[in-house]
Amino acid sequence: MSKAIIVEPGGGFDRVTIGERKTAKPQPGEITVRLRASSLNYHDYAVVSGMWGPAVPRIPMADGAGEIIEIGADVTEFAVGDHVVSTFFPTWLDGVAEVVGFATVPGDGIDGYAREMVTAPATWFTRAPRGYTHAEAATLTTAGLTAWRALFVDGGLKAGDTVLIQGTGGVSLFALQFAKIAGATVIATSSSDEKLARVKALGADHLINYRENPNWGETARELTDGRGVDHVIEVGGPGTLDQSMIAARVGGHISVIGILSGVAGSFNIVTALVRQLRLISVLVGSRRQQIDMIRAIDANGLKPIIDSQFPLEEIVAAFRHQESNRHFGKICLDI
Ligand SMILES: NC(=O)c1ccc[n+]([C@@H]2O[C@H](COP(=O)([O-])OP(=O)(O)OC[C@H]3O[C@@H](n4cnc5c(N)ncnc54)[C@H](OP(=O)(O)O)[C@@H]3O)[C@@H](O)[C@H]2O)c1
Repeated sequence: MSKAIIVEPGGGFDRVTIGERKTAKPQPGEITVRLRASSLNYHDYAVVSGMWGPAVPRIPMADGAGEIIEIGADVTEFAVGDHVVSTFFPTWLDGVAEVVGFATVPGDGIDGYAREMVTAPATWFTRAPRGYTHAEAATLTTAGLTAWRALFVDGGLKAGDTVLIQGTGGVSLFALQFAKIAGATVIATSSSDEKLARVKALGADHLINYRENPNWGETARELTDGRGVDHVIEVGGPGTLDQSMIAARVGGHISVIGILSGVAGSFNIVTALVRQLRLISVLVGSRRQQIDMIRAIDANGLKPIIDSQFPLEEIVAAFRHQESNRHFGKICLDI
């Protein structure tokens, strides 16, 4: 038996308990992982807080990293002792998107990684980047891969492009770091001047406080000499999409990712039409894309920005910290 966090049906911070779960022996093609870290995402917050609570008792958290302690027959990709990181869509290995929604996603439709031990098919994990701590590796499953797919898979980012990021959460800071290793210019927005100073230190070229400047889309456009930005990492949702479309160049790419300001709103079709914008929605990515991202990380030595680390048992305190929006980058759990 090993320790697991359980969210009772419906969710809610007062319905989170610490329980125990059996770990099965790995069957052919399976591995047993001693999980050492997870990281928080807004989606996990929605499950645990009860916004999108589970229908059955559920082990939360989509992100999991740790070391392999046992392998089943026929596993050739990994060996005992390897450091691995989970994938968001266990069944989407390669090719174009084919999974709808969250029914197969760990920590939502199936049990996730807020636990000490898991036995699962080897293909549910990839190798972790070289030299990464488990907490660093755990940031990649959701936030890292979303930013990677947005910029490199859907966006076709090129050196010299301009990327606009919104806020300083996990996805946006990964997008900043990926954009910089690719030779792009980055316009960063945040609610806080103090956080803007920190993104500048990470390489952001232009800074806009979106709280003080509600017309930040026009300001971003001016910063590109009127041309408009090539890629927008759209994490705000209905409260930010209009400004994102104003910021984008003709034919620009808006990666529709987040819902931080809500889940529905009006859509200015005329702006999208006259600018011939490419709005491409993203839901994390495939195992193949995660392997490609980790290859790039190994080549560049990029390290994620970790705001704070909480013990697994303090998962609710970790989510309350996320809820406060005081964080800068990723909040992790040590298991
Ligand atoms: N589609 C996908 O595949 C996918 C994957 C991952 C995440 N997401 C979504 O992307 C969003 C961000 O996720 P995350 O994990 O990066 O979140 P996070 O780490 O919790 O980031 C939140 C940060 O975003 C900024 N922010 C908050 N409200 C905002 C608003 N209304 N407008 C602009 N910025 C705002 C704040 O930064 P400042 O204080 O600096 O302003 C805040 O600290 C969430 O909606 C999440 O569900 C989607």
